[in-house]
Amino acid sequence: MLTLENVYAAYGHSEALHGINIHIDEGEVVCVIGRNGAGKTSAMRCVVQDLIKVTKGTVTYRGETLQRLEPHMVIRKGIGYVPEDRRVFASLTVAENLRVPPSFHDKGTDPFWTLKRVFELFPQLDQFKSRLAGNLSGGQQQMLSIARSLLNNPHLLLLDEPHEGLAPVVAQEMVASILQLKSMGVSMLISEQHLHTVHECADRIYVIDRGMTVFEGTMAEFDADPEIARRYLMVVQ
Ligand SMILES: Nc1ncnc2c1ncn2[C@@H]1O[C@H](COP(=O)(O)OP(=O)(O)OP(=O)(O)O)[C@@H](O)[C@H]1O
Ligand SMILES: [Mg+2]
Repeated sequence: MLTLENVYAAYGHSEALHGINIHIDEGEVVCVIGRNGAGKTSAMRCVVQDLIKVTKGTVTYRGETLQRLEPHMVIRKGIGYVPEDRRVFASLTVAENLRVPPSFHDKGTDPFWTLKRVFELFPQLDQFKSRLAGNLSGGQQQMLSIARSLLNNPHLLLLDEPHEGLAPVVAQEMVASILQLKSMGVSMLISEQHLHTVHECADRIYVIDRGMTVFEGTMAEFDADPEIARRYLMVVQ
């Protein structure tokens, strides 16, 4: 579905990625893990062509090269992107934030994601729909940001550290929502720092270190080699 093959990418003249390889099949949940500054966010930005420029290698989505597309065109291809800063409109209400333009990529078909379905997935958004987004908790803002993406009816969701800064109980609710989305067939690429949430969500994982993919495998393969966590994540399992 999505392939990053030997991707090099730079911010201006500063190269941040030096060989990223990531592949996601339809219906899969793939997690990218790595230390702060490893390149997780930059790898996602290569998919949506946000801020960074791919200088070598290829980014392919359903057989089509994404490089050189404008970010809004990538979204129209059916890729939803929830960046790490969440980007909700703080001075608008939840309901206003969810008034997003209709999807372009599935013309002629009824969109699966409606407000009703989004509220079923995140009942708290229904409960607080007249509250200003800026007054929501971090977890609720994360839900709102994901909900906005879903209303574009993506086939693939990119979630950049969706559990970052959330209290453990809220993070656990977010894991449950991600698993629910997975059961609905939404493919996801998730960047993550917390290994326990990765264990709950991921079909496969990639470890990124200093802008390079250094490990690819299943959770079982990752667990079988504690040296990888020690060397690249400084975690002793
Ligand atoms: N907008 C930017 N301009 C210039 N360099 C950047 C920019 N964003 C990130 N970088 C650099 O790119 C490298 C990879 O950073 P990136 O944000 O992709 O890492 P990350 O794995 O997402 O880290 P974190 O866990 O802290 O979110 C770092 O060296 C970082 O300083
Ligand atoms: Mg990041």
